[in-house]
Amino acid sequence: MVKDKVIIITGGASGIGRESAYKLAEQGAKLIVSDINEKAGKEVLDKVKKLGAEAYFMKTDVSKKEEVKALVDFAVEKFSTLHGMFNNAGIGAMTPFLELKPEDYQTMINVNQNSVYYGMYYAGNKMKDLGIKNGVIVNTASIYGFIGAAGSAHYNAAKAAVVSLTKSGAQAMTPHGIRVVGVAPGFTKTAILEAAPEEMLEALKGAHMRGKLLEADEIAYVVRFLFSDESVAINGSTVLTDDGFLAFK
Ligand SMILES: NC(=O)c1ccc[n+]([C@@H]2O[C@H](COP(=O)([O-])OP(=O)(O)OC[C@H]3O[C@@H](n4cnc5c(N)ncnc54)[C@H](O)[C@@H]3O)[C@@H](O)[C@H]2O)c1
Repeated sequence: MVKDKVIIITGGASGIGRESAYKLAEQGAKLIVSDINEKAGKEVLDKVKKLGAEAYFMKTDVSKKEEVKALVDFAVEKFSTLHGMFNNAGIGAMTPFLELKPEDYQTMINVNQNSVYYGMYYAGNKMKDLGIKNGVIVNTASIYGFIGAAGSAHYNAAKAAVVSLTKSGAQAMTPHGIRVVGVAPGFTKTAILEAAPEEMLEALKGAHMRGKLLEADEIAYVVRFLFSDESVAINGSTVLTDDGFLAFK
């Protein structure tokens, strides 16, 4: 259960972050929903409150370390404590390797990789200073953190780094009462896939054992479990939530 746990969610305005906000709210967590998209984020906040959760929204660009620090400070200002950080915000991209411009590579690393380090660093230190004994940091990786893809080199690199940061972070923070874990979704029906061609999505369905794409709430149930004390046995690892995608490979 996650009742009364204070948890920050990045990328909470859409997809996996939004569904995780709802699932955490249903069990009585106290939330800071954040996203770069203020309008959609505030709509999620309204629904989270209707579900009975005490919650706030803060507009945050996770690629900017000052904004992630401010987000963590905001959570403690509102709730006087912090138990969880969900480093989930991210962007997708499909560009063939030899057409991938250095500036686009860098943007991907800033948004999908450096952001996770910022979240781990600021939330980890805050929970350590607060003396929290059951803190949890959950990072959203991807099946693409474990395999390569010709059109997603920058995304692959960023997500592989998230898997790695999760391992190092767990080793460093466990002595301070903080677990660090990851989720690695397979292809999941969210806005991030909207740019993908329909034929590609059709073909990808067959790469999942049930023959269809995952739903965002299917990932959110796992995220909620990882934030709960029932998952203490999971630490430093990134849990595959991919309906067998990698088992097929
Ligand atoms: N959908 C999939 O198939 C899939 C698969 C594997 C991993 N993921 C990962 O799941 C996470 C969530 O993605 P999703 O599928 O829910 O997509 P989504 O597009 O529905 O949600 C992503 C959210 O992140 C926000 N965001 C983007 N850039 C940001 C920034 N700089 N600062 C703050 N917020 C920002 C967006 O506004 C959006 O609300 C991402 O890290 C993504 O890489 C998704």
